[in-house]
Amino acid sequence: MKPKARKTWLLLHVITSVGWLGVTIGMLVLALAAFDAPQLYQAMELLGDLVVLPLALGALVTGVVLSLGTKWGLVRHRWVLVKFVLTVVAVVATTFSLRSGLHEAADGVVAAGGDVLAAACVSLALYTFNTVLSVFKPWGRTRWG
Ligand code: HEM
Repeated sequence: MKPKARKTWLLLHVITSVGWLGVTIGMLVLALAAFDAPQLYQAMELLGDLVVLPLALGALVTGVVLSLGTKWGLVRHRWVLVKFVLTVVAVVATTFSLRSGLHEAADGVVAAGGDVLAAACVSLALYTFNTVLSVFKPWGRTRWG
């Protein structure tokens, strides 16, 4: 990948992936406040569909493009491989579990509130971990590297 193209993909990757982390902090605050104000689940439902999902897919796609287009490779370095696996799990969980939990909570299913809060906590821990991996790039090469 030429330097300018790499910078452009990196910019898109940082905007989408760290944006995903940021909106997750917002979701966590809303999930806590929604125990007293359940109408907030409607705002969370909207954010889930229109902001979280596009950012999640954007982070995954730009990450894969950067990996394949640079010396890092998708399976050559442990930090990239771990990020890839964790992000695929997070995208699948966001698409199916988090969004259906939000739809249930917005429809007034009381038990869904706890699930939504738990999902926001796990997601935040995971994206923070991914950010740490991205900056420190630990653990060296895999056997394919
Ligand atoms: C929540 C998910 C993710 C977060 C928060 C995240 C965060 C970041 C950040 C902040 C950087 C910039 C680091 C730097 O320039 O020093 C970065 C770079 C990078 N990310 Fe991600 N990322 C995520 C998902 C992914 C995925 C799924 C992949 C690949 C499958 C990936 C592959 C890469 C690569 C290869 C770079 C280095 C690009 C380069 O220096 O050319 N990331 N990531």
